[in-house]
Amino acid sequence: MSTATGPSSADYPRPHAHVHLGVFFQGVNHTTIWSDPASGSQIDFETFREVAQTAERGLFDAFFLGEGLRLREQNGLLHDLDVVGRPDAITQLSALAAVTRRIGLVATQNVTYNDPADLARRLASLDVLSGGRGAWNIVTTDNSWTGANFRRGGWLDHELRYVRAAEFVEAAQALWDAFDDEGAPVEVRYAGRTVELVATPTVPRSAQGHPVLFQAGDSPAGRDFAASHAEVIFSAHGTDHADALAFAHDVRRRTVAAGRPEDDVKILPGTQIILGATPDEAREKARWVKEQQVTPATALSLIGQVWGEDLSHLDPDGPLPEHDPVVKAIGETRGTPRPGRDAVAVARAWRERATEQGFSIRELVLDQERQRGFVGTPSSVADELAHWVRSGASDGFNLTPWVVPGGLDDVVDRLVPELQERGAYRTEYTGTTLREHLGLRAPVPHRRTLVTADA
Ligand SMILES: Cc1cc2nc3c(=O)[nH]c(=O)nc-3n(C[C@H](O)[C@H](O)[C@H](O)COP(=O)(O)O)c2cc1C
Repeated sequence: MSTATGPSSADYPRPHAHVHLGVFFQGVNHTTIWSDPASGSQIDFETFREVAQTAERGLFDAFFLGEGLRLREQNGLLHDLDVVGRPDAITQLSALAAVTRRIGLVATQNVTYNDPADLARRLASLDVLSGGRGAWNIVTTDNSWTGANFRRGGWLDHELRYVRAAEFVEAAQALWDAFDDEGAPVEVRYAGRTVELVATPTVPRSAQGHPVLFQAGDSPAGRDFAASHAEVIFSAHGTDHADALAFAHDVRRRTVAAGRPEDDVKILPGTQIILGATPDEAREKARWVKEQQVTPATALSLIGQVWGEDLSHLDPDGPLPEHDPVVKAIGETRGTPRPGRDAVAVARAWRERATEQGFSIRELVLDQERQRGFVGTPSSVADELAHWVRSGASDGFNLTPWVVPGGLDDVVDRLVPELQERGAYRTEYTGTTLREHLGLRAPVPHRRTLVTADA
């Protein structure tokens, strides 16, 4: 038993709040260490079956898949750090629906390249077949290289992407709700700037009305979109409490400005949890995990992004390149976390730091990768998570395990009981739908048979 740190429960704005947990896999990333001998295959159904069932044993709200429609590349070379061949999310989640009973199933699907009537039908199918456990993580996809994979080519201007996102979601909602009082489907006509359709729904409403709407995007336009349309916002503010609290206040302010109650949008940042029996053991494990995430090849790939050239021939235990980058700005098409930054300035700062500390290439990259999420004992991490939700910094977390399928085991077996002891986590599922797990209101009906952009 641990003693809660920080203020006593009664001082919190939300003293009885529960932590909601989801397990999240990015489309492309090097957070999950697929190369670890304990790791399953990223295309093997058994890997994800085991994770989803473990999460359900831990009474998680959701199993959540990101979407990466094209692997990152640079000068024609695929990034060594990307896994190849992740199956389509809706297909994978439909299969998981058959081997789980309660956990929500969240599919990331972009609005820039899909067609609304088709996607609305596929998501409604997942929702109906899973008994009301489906959700759609609405993303606009910010990278132009993905666009080249699609018949339309290119991409939409940032501002227009959110115009399309709003029209897309309105059209989907109109289709999900287009049934008369007897339950017969009615025709929907939608005429907007970027979406035009005439369609009649072919899949009935699900046990939760329609799929829960998640959204991931961080710009002011993205936050306003979430405030107007989403029921859950998936953020990247999952490490620093003050930063998360500022984000949460901003989202709630925008939600009220959009005419909704401030708790209408649940906030679930992505994060990582590393547990140890003692604080030292947890820190040591975190150091080891980071080393696995930044393999020698990954370190070379990451500096190649900054220098704008293939540096895979360099010795990762040797010094950084002496010449300046061949590009001015770090390109967004390379999937870098530092798009648009002055490449020469970043390279010079890195060289300076490496010289000062005597760092090799790999040591420098390890030094630059910030520690994400929570590191500690089950008891200390449970205190921190409870503090986050009770203080209103988030409603819970989407966890990305560092290894699959076993990486969630200690969270479920050691952390969840600690949260339950603190009264900060459910002890059983009390509902059957994802909407019920998340404590969301029933969806407002959007029964509109004719929708125009300025209606
Ligand atoms: C936490 C988070 C997760 C995201 N996950 C995905 C994803 O899985 N697939 C994808 O195509 N885009 C993803 N995005 C990118 C968004 O679709 C969007 O293109 C990007 O955030 C730029 O929009 P913004 O300027 O509003 O943030 C994610 C964004 C955030 C903040």
